[in-house]
Amino acid sequence: MKIALIVGSPRKNRSCNFLIDKAIEGIKSVGEEFEIKKVQIADYQISPCNGCDQCLRPPNDCPLAENDDTKKLEEQILGSSALFIAAPNYFGSVSSQIKVLIDRSRPWKMKNYLLKDVIFAPMASTGLRNGGGGVISDLINFALIQGMILVGNTGGSPVLEGNIPITSLQKFALKEFVGKGETDELAGKISFDLGKRVAELIKKMNK
Ligand SMILES: Cc1cc2nc3c(=O)[nH]c(=O)nc-3n(C[C@H](O)[C@H](O)[C@H](O)COP(=O)(O)O)c2cc1C
Repeated sequence: MKIALIVGSPRKNRSCNFLIDKAIEGIKSVGEEFEIKKVQIADYQISPCNGCDQCLRPPNDCPLAENDDTKKLEEQILGSSALFIAAPNYFGSVSSQIKVLIDRSRPWKMKNYLLKDVIFAPMASTGLRNGGGGVISDLINFALIQGMILVGNTGGSPVLEGNIPITSLQKFALKEFVGKGETDELAGKISFDLGKRVAELIKKMNK
C-alpha cells in the first residue's frame, strides 16, 4: 500500500510542502501500514519533453530518461495505490517542474496506462486568494488522461469544509498576507482530511 506525494514547488519547505505534510499526517492517522514516498520535485532533474514521439512506439521508452532522473522518479511513483500532487499557482497553471513531469509521464500512458486506477488527489498553493483553480484543472486533466481515479475531501462538514485543498498567502484585506510562522489552518485541515480519506479508501478497496 504505497502512497506517493509530490511537493511540486521548486521551494522545498513552503506552502506545497505544508499541504503534503498535512496529508501525510492524515494518512498516518489511519494506520502505519502505508509506505509513504514523499517526493520533492526540486530534487529531480527532469528534462522537458522534446516531442520526439519515441514513446509512441514499442518499447515506449523515452530517450531522455537515459540522462536524467526520470527512472529515480518512477521508482517513487509507479506501483502506488495513490498519488498526491501539490502544485503552486504560476500564472494560473502548475509550476514548470510539474508541467515537465506531466509531459514526461506520457510513456507511462503509452505502456498501457501504468497509472490506471491509482487514486489521485490534486492540491494547490496560490499567492492571491481565489487563485489556484487553474492548477487544479491542470492536475485533473493529467489524472483523467492517465486513467486515474480522482478524489476530493469529504472528511469534514459538507457545509463548512471545502473539498479541494488550496492554500493561499493572502488573508482577507487587500494588503493582508500570512506572516512568518503562520499557516492557512483551514487548508491544512482539508489536506489532513483528504489524506485520511485516501488512506481509508485504499483500505476499503483492498478488502
Ligand atoms: C513565476 C511565479 C508566478 C506566480 N503566479 C501567480 C499567480 O498568477 N497568481 C497568484 O496568486 N500567485 C502567483 N504566484 C505566487 C505563488 O503561487 C505562491 O507564492 C505559492 O504559494 C508558491 O508555492 P510554494 O510556497 O509552495 O512555493 C507566482 C509565483 C511565481 C514564482
